[in-house]
Amino acid sequence: MGRIHVLPEHVANKIAAGEVVERPASVVKELLENSLDAGSTRIRIQAEAGGKRLIQITDNGCGMTRDDALLAFERHATSKIQSAEDLLTVATLGFRGEALPSIASVSRLKLETRALGESSGTMVEINGGKIFRVEEAGLPEGTAITVRDLFFNTPARKKFLKAESTELSHIASLVTHYALAHPDKHFELHSATNAILVAPPVADRGQRVYQVFGKEVLDQLIPVAALQPLERIGLPQPPPWRREEQKGDAGTLSLSTSPIREDLVQEEEKSFGELRAHGFVSKPEIQKLNRNSIYVFVNGRLIRDRLIQHALTEAYRNIIPPSVFPVVLLFLELPSAEVDVNVHPSKTEVRFRQQTAVHDFVRDSVRAALMKARPVPQFTKEIDAHPTASPSLTPGARATMVDIAAWRSLYAPAAPAGFALQPPVLPPATERLHFGNETITVEANAAVALARIPAQAVPGDGCTPPLPVEPEPPSDLVPSLASLKP
Ligand SMILES: Nc1ncnc2c1ncn2[C@@H]1O[C@H](COP(=O)(O)OP(=O)(O)O)[C@@H](O)[C@H]1O
Ligand SMILES: [Mg+2]
Repeated sequence: MGRIHVLPEHVANKIAAGEVVERPASVVKELLENSLDAGSTRIRIQAEAGGKRLIQITDNGCGMTRDDALLAFERHATSKIQSAEDLLTVATLGFRGEALPSIASVSRLKLETRALGESSGTMVEINGGKIFRVEEAGLPEGTAITVRDLFFNTPARKKFLKAESTELSHIASLVTHYALAHPDKHFELHSATNAILVAPPVADRGQRVYQVFGKEVLDQLIPVAALQPLERIGLPQPPPWRREEQKGDAGTLSLSTSPIREDLVQEEEKSFGELRAHGFVSKPEIQKLNRNSIYVFVNGRLIRDRLIQHALTEAYRNIIPPSVFPVVLLFLELPSAEVDVNVHPSKTEVRFRQQTAVHDFVRDSVRAALMKARPVPQFTKEIDAHPTASPSLTPGARATMVDIAAWRSLYAPAAPAGFALQPPVLPPATERLHFGNETITVEANAAVALARIPAQAVPGDGCTPPLPVEPEPPSDLVPSLASLKP
């Protein structure tokens, strides 16, 4: 008799959970992405004991029918793609159909959902991957998922979780950044005792930054907004000489209807879409010791990508020392066919089909924004021209020292007109932009004009008609935002 057997579904789900659910914040990420895919405009998250005891997420999205509510916990059950080809053009945040069964296999999960237009809802309870209750229930439209006792049946995983405050800060950071990505939606995050984030809809990301971080942070950031048409689509085409050859061949045959030639002509006329970047990057005086303040979204998806990290390092070359990192909130948009999102189960990695184009575009857009905010003063040019001019410049430290001095000079009284000026101030040693003790704390200084970047449409999964755009909140909800209006 053979030794090989197929693992039971609940074991397979637990294995998948190993990749998808690393910590409470990964549960929040998956559930939040599901709520966004469901077209929700209001999302409320409750996290207790750093998410270890309870994570609850309530949305007003399209909800699920009873059948769907049960199917959703089957492995690889999804409403978001149909075929392998759809993987090439995924417009939703989810598509693998793995999150719900994975989370349900390592927690005690309750799903309460009512599909739009249905007269009643469904409640499903699952413990460690086993369904033990399914009931019809009177529920509001939308979905609420409650995840209790995460990793109760995987003690090894549970042991590796960090302190409650650390896990909560990961959740807070994640929710805050998704709120930044979707300024048109209402986000709330509560712990057992505190309202950590309450963010009603605002008009654009600049206002959202202001709303969640305050003026000091916004003042430390430089807006980035760039657009570049794509020259081609997907993978590289034949080299130019080859294309010439094809054109020539077709020409000598005098076949005006030659398929090769027609393709080429059409190709030339076709628009291949564009790369768009917007967001915020920090002024050089903000220097972080790690990359934890770099947030990059690609088509609404929060990702970690070495190519983009490298592009950002390049953009800041000689502006900040190589050992420190900026604060970055970058939103990249590109045709979905240009980016492969099916790289890892956690969906935090992507592969760009035109890597060089994306890399250089990010580098150049960020660099241009930095340069625009900081015209190089005359004396820096002189030093560049005569590297030995200043005795204080030691090899290796030269570029950094020159640039920091140049930057600080902007804040001196003689800085060029057009800048919001403040006295020269060194970044305080305690400068920080992080979540501590459930509050968002920031200390910083300086000033820059605010860009108004229009909010991006959020990809839907087609489970609901296009989102009704929520009206802007009355200004008394966010009184301080009034000053940002034109
Ligand atoms: N908050 C929600 N609102 C409506 N439908 C949901 C929600 N969460 C999950 N679903 C449904 O359950 C399915 C499975 O979810 P999930 O396991 O996260 O896989 P995926 O998001 O990759 O499709 C989704 O495709 C969607 O149809
Ligand atoms: Mg999902």
